[in-house]
Amino acid sequence: MARVVVTGGAGFVGARLVRRLLESGDEVVVVDDLSAGSAAAVPPGARLHRGDVRDPGWAPALEGAERVFHLASPVGVRRAHQQGAAVVRAIVEGGMVVADLCRERGLPVLFTSSSEVYGRGPTGVDASPRWSYAVGKLAVEHLLLAADAGLPSVHVARLFNVVGPGQRPGDGHVLPTFAGAAAAGRPLPIHGDGGARRVFLHVDDAVDALCLLAATPALAGRPIDVGSDEELSIQALAERVAARVAGATLAHVPAQGVFGPGFVQIERRLPDLRPLRGIGWAPRHTLDQAITAALSEAGCPS
Ligand SMILES: NC(=O)c1ccc[n+]([C@@H]2O[C@H](COP(=O)([O-])OP(=O)(O)OC[C@H]3O[C@@H](n4cnc5c(N)ncnc54)[C@H](O)[C@@H]3O)[C@@H](O)[C@H]2O)c1
Repeated sequence: MARVVVTGGAGFVGARLVRRLLESGDEVVVVDDLSAGSAAAVPPGARLHRGDVRDPGWAPALEGAERVFHLASPVGVRRAHQQGAAVVRAIVEGGMVVADLCRERGLPVLFTSSSEVYGRGPTGVDASPRWSYAVGKLAVEHLLLAADAGLPSVHVARLFNVVGPGQRPGDGHVLPTFAGAAAAGRPLPIHGDGGARRVFLHVDDAVDALCLLAATPALAGRPIDVGSDEELSIQALAERVAARVAGATLAHVPAQGVFGPGFVQIERRLPDLRPLRGIGWAPRHTLDQAITAALSEAGCPS
C-alpha cells in the first residue's frame, strides 16, 4: 500500500485513475480546485484536498506521499484557442509548482501531456493561440524531464483522445457532444467535412497504461504515447453513434464557426504504441463500450 497524490483527480481521467489506485490498495489524496471536475466524481475512500495546483499551499497533501500523478490542467481545444495566454499560464504555473514540490521531496511524478504537442505534422506548433495547450504541455515536459530538473523519476504520458464513462459534455469533447445531441433529438454536429481521422481510447485502458507506466522505470525519462491505434473518421464516429439512436441525423458545421477564426483542424494523428505494448499493455475495451456509456450518460440508452 502506498500513499499517492492525484492532481486533477476529480476530473474524467483522474477519477477513474483514483478508483483504480484505491482498488489496488493505495491510499489516495486528490488535489483539485473543482474548476472542471466535481467533488461527487471523487471515488469514496479518497481524500479530497480542494486547492489550485498553482498555489503551493497544497503541499501538506503530499505528506507521506510516495508518488504523484499530475493530471490537473485546463482542457479543451476551444478553450485553448480562445484563451491562449490563460491556458499556457495555467499549465506552466501548475507544472512549476508540481516540479518544485516533487524535487524538494524526491518524489516520482507522472505527468499527463497530450498528443497536441505533435502539432500539425511538419509545421509543428507555433505561437498562435491554437497551440497554447500544446505549448504549455511541452513546457511542463521540459520542466520535469530536463537533466537539470532534479527529479528522481519522471514519466510523461502523451494521451491521445480518451473516451468513456464520466466524460463531461460541454468541454467540446466529440463523443459526449454527439451523444448529447442524439439524446436531445438534435443533429450530431460534425465540424467541417468529417474527414479528420482520430483514435479513441477507453478511459480504463488509459488508466491501465498510466499505472503500468508509473511502475516501469525503464519507460521513465521520455514521453510515451498513450492511445488507440484504431483510426476512424469523425464522420464514421458520428454514423456509429447515430446508428444506435432511432431517428438520429447528422449535420456538418464549419469548424471556424465553432472555434473562431484561425482554427487549424488536425486531419490525422496516430500514437506510437511500441513502448507501451513492449511492457505488455493492450486495450481491453472497445469503442462501442465507450459509445454505450456516453449515450447512457446523456440519457439515451441504446
Ligand atoms: N481526455 C482526453 O482525451 C485527454 C487527452 C490528452 C491529454 N489529456 C490530459 O489528461 C489529464 C486529464 O484530462 P481530463 O480529460 O480528465 O480533464 P478534466 O477536465 O476532466 O480533468 C482535469 C481536472 O483538473 C482540475 N483542474 C484544472 N485546473 C486545475 C488547477 N489549476 N488546480 C487544481 N485542479 C485543477 C479540474 O477541476 C478537473 O477536475 C489532463 O492533464 C489533460 O490535459 C486528456
